[in-house]
Amino acid sequence: MLKTHNCGELRTEHDGELVTLAGWVNRQRDHGGVVFINLRDRSGIVQVVADPNHASGTHKAAIQARQEYVLQVRGRVRLRPAGLVNPDMDTGAVEVLADEVVILNAAKTPPFYIFDDSPVDEALRLKYRYLDLRRQRMQHNMLLRHRVVKQIRDFLGARGFVEIETPILFKTTPEGARDYLVPSRIHPGNFYALPQSPQQLKQLLMVAGFERYFQIARCFRDEDQRGDRQPEFTQLDLEMSFVEREDVMALTEEMMIGIVEECSDRQLLQKPFPRLTYAEAMARFGTDRPDLRFGMELTDLSDVVAGSGFRVFAKTIASGGQVKGIRVPGCGGYSRRQIDALTERAKQEGAAGLAWLAVGEGAEHRSSFARFLSGAEVAAIVERLAGAPGDLLLLVAAPPKVTAAALGALRLETGEQLGLRDQRVLACCWVIDFPLFEWNEDEQRWDPSHHLFTSPMPEDLHLLETDPGAARGQQYDLVINGEETGGGSIRIHQRPVQEKVFELIGLDLETARERFGHMLEAFEYGTPPHGGIAPGIDRLVMLLAGEPNIREVMAFPKTLQAMDLMAGAPSPVEPKQLEELHIQIVGKYSSDNPS
Ligand code: AMO
Repeated sequence: MLKTHNCGELRTEHDGELVTLAGWVNRQRDHGGVVFINLRDRSGIVQVVADPNHASGTHKAAIQARQEYVLQVRGRVRLRPAGLVNPDMDTGAVEVLADEVVILNAAKTPPFYIFDDSPVDEALRLKYRYLDLRRQRMQHNMLLRHRVVKQIRDFLGARGFVEIETPILFKTTPEGARDYLVPSRIHPGNFYALPQSPQQLKQLLMVAGFERYFQIARCFRDEDQRGDRQPEFTQLDLEMSFVEREDVMALTEEMMIGIVEECSDRQLLQKPFPRLTYAEAMARFGTDRPDLRFGMELTDLSDVVAGSGFRVFAKTIASGGQVKGIRVPGCGGYSRRQIDALTERAKQEGAAGLAWLAVGEGAEHRSSFARFLSGAEVAAIVERLAGAPGDLLLLVAAPPKVTAAALGALRLETGEQLGLRDQRVLACCWVIDFPLFEWNEDEQRWDPSHHLFTSPMPEDLHLLETDPGAARGQQYDLVINGEETGGGSIRIHQRPVQEKVFELIGLDLETARERFGHMLEAFEYGTPPHGGIAPGIDRLVMLLAGEPNIREVMAFPKTLQAMDLMAGAPSPVEPKQLEELHIQIVGKYSSDNPS
């Protein structure tokens, strides 16, 4: 080894020890004669002193050494004089007096500072990701991620889970996104699909008798990118045989509590995790991934205003819609501009507008709609929402889906403005009893709301024939701070039920056989009842690190335009490669035909 100690581990008990260190120059200060170098490795930073009066050779190298030069330093640890102890550094009580400084490698001036976490344009960070990853924040995030994955492996290993790898070159997988395709050279005109998840393979591993499987699995989905989405991401994919919903949820919950408590300094808001049915989550929070760090729940006012003279309310209710509201505590003083911004937000979710009321003393309210209602009706609204003077009440009148989406978004927005979304707290919950299907208006057919292998609730099985929209699935989502962090279900393990689901989602048997014949066939060879879940590792680590997006917890992420700015991917390929694949690029994308 080129070093005997790590920079960050040196403490007063090392006083007098001879050490060899190796690392990067974090900062260099020349104090007219004596040069101070903050030397950094993964463990931290220590001050090195190159004093020409002590060892003349060290000084020359130390003077040359600029930011990010790679150095080897031999020297003796000594205590810093009392007045010069740096309480901001873990190693601040000591320094290393250099006997020898060797420049192992020079470095160009980096495009941004490594030694502090001042904001840097993200495109620049991604282009020089290897430098960005040297920064403290990213080192912390990567190490956290490592600890989380290790905790998962230890936890599942101790419970009899087997880690099995499944192929990346596979066939189309039905997770609802677009596939990434890989052309086959050996079979021209044919394509592999990169797995959107190992869903089918893990189910087949249950057929194969492994009973408890997991994998830290890379998944690929070609979908519109957001802060919590990447085209390739990582799941903890797991599957168990001979289990019921309760078993998978209990195991996952125990594992999650262990991860949070062992790997992070975040506070779990509630243990055991609360459970909400899908219907309850939608009614109370307007979303199936509620942020439970704060209240401000949606309250139904439909019965209060159904008979009112205010046409917008009355008409909405008469046509099957709802009027619901939230109370934003202490925000009655919001300006017109602030309220306009909230109105805009509601409109983005499809609402025609936003009705608001700033609660005053007695019946003295400022409001966009109170003048259209009777005093008693206004009082009833304020009472139902438990409005107190100084509060702002926000109301939306729309079809139930739109009411939920608009008020759900306003709840998050105003909750954020009120500082109620504390990153140090993790509010975990389970959402269960999802509808098995969603109606697809465009295609005039049912779509699976999770995926097509999710089993109906046993008591709802008969509804597949009579009222598929009312059938609930044995699905469970793990939600943390409003993020869908994991999803899973008990699976269908009987061929007739699977075929019925194919039929409902408009897959004729022939197509189903072509795409999933291997699954249907496997179901005929003694498939055990089974189920599983897949928490997203990136989302989980993002929450544990308190980061705003998953790029911050991935070593080499892609941009929102799905590009790798460092390597320059995707990129054109050699014509010969395309020829071998029997692929021709046509139209404006062809390099022969630039436009
Ligand atoms: P699902 O599609 O719900 O379920 O995905 C499970 C979890 O994976 C994470 N995730 C993502 N993370 C980053 N970028 C993405 N584009 C992305 N898409 C999903 C989320 C999500 O909760 N096979 C099923 C699981 C099962 O049924 O066992 C599945 O993939 O954290």
